[in-house]
Amino acid sequence: MRLNQKVAIITGIGSGMGQAAAKLFAAEGALVVGCDIDRARCDATVKEILSSGGQAVALGTCDPSEPEQAQQLIDLAMDTHGFIDVLYNNAAAVHFAPIEAMSHAMWAATMKGELDIVFNACKAAWPHLKTRGGSIINCGSVSGKMAYEVLPALAHAAGKGGVIAMTRQLAMEGGSHGIRANSISPGLVRTGATAPLIDNPDWFMPMKRKLMLSGRVGEPIDIAYCALYLASDEAKWVTGADFAIDGGTTAW
Ligand SMILES: NC(=O)c1ccc[n+]([C@@H]2O[C@H](COP(=O)([O-])OP(=O)(O)OC[C@H]3O[C@@H](n4cnc5c(N)ncnc54)[C@H](O)[C@@H]3O)[C@@H](O)[C@H]2O)c1
Repeated sequence: MRLNQKVAIITGIGSGMGQAAAKLFAAEGALVVGCDIDRARCDATVKEILSSGGQAVALGTCDPSEPEQAQQLIDLAMDTHGFIDVLYNNAAAVHFAPIEAMSHAMWAATMKGELDIVFNACKAAWPHLKTRGGSIINCGSVSGKMAYEVLPALAHAAGKGGVIAMTRQLAMEGGSHGIRANSISPGLVRTGATAPLIDNPDWFMPMKRKLMLSGRVGEPIDIAYCALYLASDEAKWVTGADFAIDGGTTAW
């Protein structure tokens, strides 16, 4: 029960790493407050948590890249529990294209889907986090720190690089209020978004060479365990850090 009775907001609980974190956090005693843009998947995660004896509430169609919807998510946590301990900004939406194929609309949508979504939720949660401290966990990426040959990650690199940088500044501004802020930068993880690419050998072989542990791709739970640590009191002296959970990719 490493998160016993902690109120943990997690965005994007409908699949992948957000779903894995929601289930793990709830199993560790957290009161999960989730959201997703996909109502059916979001509801399925909540149902699974409840049927395992955990606690969760969620907004089935909530997109925190819109400020009012980020506010609704924070309001749900406050109305249900009266306080917030953890804000895990996991969800993101991205367009992949090289510069010549990247329209301004695709670029702007990626900035909104990767940066605004984090800013809006942090901004709405901040006054509540300030009252008793808390842990912000933002999802960065290997792409925020290095280029991949086979991934046209122009906008994604800017977005996730921005998330990692924003997290350092949040740590600075939150320190005196007991607010910790850290980012997790996953490497290649098998989720709904990446499975078709991983299963394509032409795409996967150059990526596999960057995975030190015998080419093993990450699983969502590999990331969720890092988030669990950062959410818990075990990480009470940890802030302003970026955690590479990437099978050695950025060390290669
Ligand atoms: N999969 C990877 O290899 C990888 C690597 C590095 C970083 N990441 C990052 O990890 C995070 C999770 O990715 P994943 O692979 O688990 O994705 P996923 O597609 O499996 O799941 C993301 C979930 O978030 C929801 N979502 C998307 N945009 C949303 C929005 N605007 N508002 C609310 N919900 C939204 C989706 O409906 C989905 O349920 C993202 O920030 C992603 O950029 C992924």
